[in-house]
Amino acid sequence: PYPFYDEMRSMGPLYKLDSFPYPGWYVTGYEEVKKVLLDTRFKNRIPLPLTSKKYERLKEVQNHMMLFKNELDHRRLRGLASAAFVPSKLKHIRYYIEETAHDLLNQAEQKNKMDVVSDYAFPLASLVIAKMIGVPVVERPLFREWSASLIRTIDFTRTRHILASGDETIGVLLDYFQRLINKKKRAPKDDLISMFVKQDSELSEKELLATCILLMIAGHETTVNLISNTVLVLLNHPVQYKALQENPALIETAIEEVLRYESPTQMTARVASEDIKMGESIVQKGDHVYVLLGAANRDPEKFAKADVFDMTRKPNPHLAFGHGVHFCIGASLARMEAQIAIQILLQRMPGLRLSDSKPRWRKLIGFRSLSELPVILRS
Ligand code: HEM
Repeated sequence: PYPFYDEMRSMGPLYKLDSFPYPGWYVTGYEEVKKVLLDTRFKNRIPLPLTSKKYERLKEVQNHMMLFKNELDHRRLRGLASAAFVPSKLKHIRYYIEETAHDLLNQAEQKNKMDVVSDYAFPLASLVIAKMIGVPVVERPLFREWSASLIRTIDFTRTRHILASGDETIGVLLDYFQRLINKKKRAPKDDLISMFVKQDSELSEKELLATCILLMIAGHETTVNLISNTVLVLLNHPVQYKALQENPALIETAIEEVLRYESPTQMTARVASEDIKMGESIVQKGDHVYVLLGAANRDPEKFAKADVFDMTRKPNPHLAFGHGVHFCIGASLARMEAQIAIQILLQRMPGLRLSDSKPRWRKLIGFRSLSELPVILRS
């Protein structure tokens, strides 16, 4: 996507397109992206409203997600969910992340090869969020299919065909979560759903369902990408890879640099609630604004040698987790997961290398996401 972003940036940090891929303002400049995300007159919205009747239930759920809410409703929903990400809760989950990472590598070690995406990053991130939410272990493998279906409905690349075919998986997912919520109401446990159920005076039934589903998708799809992208970037930069092995303390800045250099979430969207002046341009009420986080993070006006991966880069004020009131609620969890996953992988597999089959990127626009990353564990 990067040469394309450069081309767009050369037309201006904020540029209106009448067609491709959707009509609206495309924001590529770092300062402009920050400005849009800080200005609450740019409202958060469902990026591509679903029109098919088959998606009525999903639309209803999306309408209750904090990500697509503004002002008071947003503040209330976010306030309730943020209790899940306080340091004491994260400390608790740290051991589970470590243990799961080791288990997954024990399994892969027997074959001496693995696909980083499906054998490591995906199971790790989904097991962690499923445990936090309170999904029973046996159901956790279903997550991948569910989340792939949801991602397809929100990404720009979705086709009429995908939508017209409807998506039964989404119905199954919604029913599943509704049943799980009902079960936790009868017998609460020490997990997020139970915590939300106890707060049901402040959360409607639909909000409860929407919050669980939002955390499930947001909580692992992007984290999978962060872990997989980190492995690929490091293997493509052998000198830095070695330096990181020799000095594990560099892991924090290394993960921040991957967040900037290969941002898992490449774009988000807003809609102008009134006419808004941005530099020389007027964004008109009702205009759609596509915020290209991946482009802002490579803006040469902000980052020296923006196209160069430098794992010691500091400061690194990237916008990979967004900015302002919708700043990612799971940022600390995602950082912790990625740091642990990479550290354990490098410690245990010092000879890790790319296998002969090429890594493949998924054909998505909003996400920087590998579909496969085959590696050999020991040379
Ligand atoms: C919001 C990225 C991991 C939950 C966001 C936003 C971005 C983002 C860019 C802002 C969207 C906007 O302003 O329109 C990422 C990345 C992740 C990650 C790159 C991993 C590398 C997580 C995790 C969770 C999570 C682990 C939860 C378990 C959320 C939620 C919101 C959000 C609930 C909405 C916050 C709000 O509307 O106030 N994330 N995220 N994310 N993220 Fe993440």
